[in-house]
Amino acid sequence: MPLWRSASTKVRLLQRVAFFEGLSPRQLGQVARLADEVEVAAGKRLATAGDTGRELFVIVEGRAIAKTPRGRTVQLGPGQFFGEIGLIDGGPRSATVEASTPMRLLVVGHREFWELLAEAPPIAKRIMRTLSQRLREADAAFSPCS
Ligand code: CMP
Repeated sequence: MPLWRSASTKVRLLQRVAFFEGLSPRQLGQVARLADEVEVAAGKRLATAGDTGRELFVIVEGRAIAKTPRGRTVQLGPGQFFGEIGLIDGGPRSATVEASTPMRLLVVGHREFWELLAEAPPIAKRIMRTLSQRLREADAAFSPCS
């Protein structure tokens, strides 16, 4: 369910989310303009493996579980994000993601995502670093040496 807040209230919310740490007040204002805040109930499916999806989700409160088609499960919590893979390469979602508790999320659409990276380079770094870690973990999970 989308929520509507004033820009300054939304900025105060963003200041509590680790994902946005280190952003200037101006950058936080840009994020507030580009991201929609939503609340979902436990059990809500937020992404489906194989489907097209063009949004990035940043978790403000609550937890989610990502399940890959090969059976790997990953817990995601406040300050973490998901949905970047399909958004960046335009391909299908690599995992199904469901809320395991009630959640509050920020949702960033495709056009807004690229605008956000240009406005707030620390976010681009954070996403690249996490993507690299996810790639290593996914690879290690299925390597013959693990
Ligand atoms: P995307 O493929 O767009 O949609 C599903 C999301 O689940 C994916 O982006 C990632 O954000 C997340 N995801 C997929 N695999 C993993 C993983 N191994 N570790 C953490 N998150 C993942």
